[in-house]
Amino acid sequence: MSNVRRLYREPAIASHEGATTADSPKPKHVAIVMDGNGRWAAGRRLPRHVGHRAGYRVVRNLVRLAIERDIRHLTLFAFSSENWKRPEIEVSALMKLFLQALRREVNDLDDNGVKLDFLGARERLSAPLRKLMEETETRTAGNDRLRLHVAVSFGGRWDIVSAARRLSEAAAAGRMDPASVDEAALRRAMSLPDMPDPDLLIRTGGECRISNFLLWNLAYTELYFTDVLWPDFDAAQLDAALGIFSRRHRRFGTVTAGAEHA
Ligand code: FPP
Repeated sequence: MSNVRRLYREPAIASHEGATTADSPKPKHVAIVMDGNGRWAAGRRLPRHVGHRAGYRVVRNLVRLAIERDIRHLTLFAFSSENWKRPEIEVSALMKLFLQALRREVNDLDDNGVKLDFLGARERLSAPLRKLMEETETRTAGNDRLRLHVAVSFGGRWDIVSAARRLSEAAAAGRMDPASVDEAALRRAMSLPDMPDPDLLIRTGGECRISNFLLWNLAYTELYFTDVLWPDFDAAQLDAALGIFSRRHRRFGTVTAGAEHA
């Protein structure tokens, strides 16, 4: 990896530096691009689907960690609009993994107060997977300890275009005045209208880009990139990211209090 690419990453920190205290700013919503499963598997001379299975085990652990750390929303990029272009064998392995994971996890998620929902173009998914998604959403709808949003067949551009189409259709049908289209109206027409914007985006696997994830919602999100491959992401990695977040100064386009006359 070149030094130039390194410049864009967080400096290495000792594990104790990532620690947060009770009054450190904490993200209420963490979004994650779980990258690096394929390279993790390749490094062990294993097929890519083994990397995805290892990645799923990390997701199970992460849900528990998120609850322990009082994260209220966790959004995971499990399969992008572009991932459909991967070899058929990998796409089917991932779809099979999603089905198995949902069947296996629904009881535990429900028992732990997790409300699960999905964002993405569901019409592209198989009927059994769609049915299981709907059943899981219904079953966990009353929970509020952690809201787990899983993006499957999702793209940020798809979400914005779908919302724009919904508004255009409403305007064409006379149900809404085109002049009333504003940020709030667009947000209401998007995948998860009641989801607050992520405070922190974590991307593993060494790439420093958004890759068509939540384009609208990430406008003021703090970005954290790490070289760690997703199957190696553990509690220490999460705490390092939370520690970095706690030291960021979020201004949302305004100035820091007290700096108005500087
Ligand atoms: C990107 O790594 C990862 C994916 C496209 C799949 C992510 C899915 C999981 C972690 C399983 C999650 C399961 C549930 C139930 C949410 P990559 O394949 O692009 O890795 P590479 O960049 O090393 O090739």
